[in-house]
Amino acid sequence: MTRKPLVAGNWKMNFDHLEATYFVQKLAWLLRDARFDARRCEVALMPPFTAIRSVQVLVEADRLDLSYGAQAVSVTTQGAFTGDVSADMLSSLGCSYVIVGHSERRRYHPEDDANIVDQVRGVLAAGMHPILCVGESFEERREGIALDFAVGQVSDVTRDLSDEQAANILVAYEPVWAIGSGLVATPDSAQEAARAIREHLRGTFDDHVAASVRILYGGSVTSRNARELIDEPDVDGFLVGGASLDADEFAAIARIVEKSTRKGSGRTGR
Ligand code: PGA
Repeated sequence: MTRKPLVAGNWKMNFDHLEATYFVQKLAWLLRDARFDARRCEVALMPPFTAIRSVQVLVEADRLDLSYGAQAVSVTTQGAFTGDVSADMLSSLGCSYVIVGHSERRRYHPEDDANIVDQVRGVLAAGMHPILCVGESFEERREGIALDFAVGQVSDVTRDLSDEQAANILVAYEPVWAIGSGLVATPDSAQEAARAIREHLRGTFDDHVAASVRILYGGSVTSRNARELIDEPDVDGFLVGGASLDADEFAAIARIVEKSTRKGSGRTGR
C-alpha cells in the first residue's frame, strides 16, 4: 500500500473570489508548464467559503487536476444557525477536504474536542475527508510533552471512530509555535511526531488504517525546507499557510514533493 502525498494550501482569510480565480489559473499554468504529474502528488486548495464556488467552476470547466476543500464547518446539518455552513453544503460544492481543529480555530472560536469530534463525524458523513490538525504549543514543547500532547489530541478526537471512518481522515501535525512564525520543525522532529501518530493509529485501528492515513506536516513550510521534510518516511505532504498565497512558491513546493516520489522514496504502508 502506498500513500499519495498531498500538498494542501490553507489560504486562511485571504483572497476574494476574483483573486482566487487568478491564483488557480496561474497555478494550473505553472504546474502544466513544469509537466507536473498529478498521479504522484495531489495538490489541494482550501479557500475561504466565499471563493470555493469560483475554484469549483474553474476546476470543472478546465478539468484541472486540483482538489479543494474548506477551512471550517458547522457541527449542525441545517436550520437556524446564523452564519454557519454545513458539511452537505460543502460537499455539494465538490469539496474533498475540510480542515478541522486548526489551532487558529481552537483559539479564536469555541472549538473544543467534543465539538471537533462532531465536525469530523459530519465531514465523514457528507463523504469528505477531515484534515485533523494537532500539535503542541511552545509551552508543551518546553515541558518535553510535545509528542504525548499531539498523540493525545489525535486519540481524543478519533477514539470512537470505526476503522472505516478512521481510514478516511488525514492528520496534519502542526506545532503551534511553527505556524506563521518562520520557525519550522526539524525533519527529525516532524518525522518523530508523524511516526508517533501513526503508531497510535496502528495500536487503535486495523493495520490498514495506520498504513493508509496520510499524515501532513504544517508550520512555516516553504520551498526551502520542503525537500528535507518530505524525505521523511512518515511525512506524507504538507498543509501550507503563508507560502500557499504565492502561486510560484506553492507550485515549487508541489514540484518538490512530486519529485521526491520519482526518486523511488515512495512512502509505503510501513
Ligand atoms: P504557515 O501556516 O505555513 O503560514 O505556518 C500553516 C497552517 O496554519 O496551516
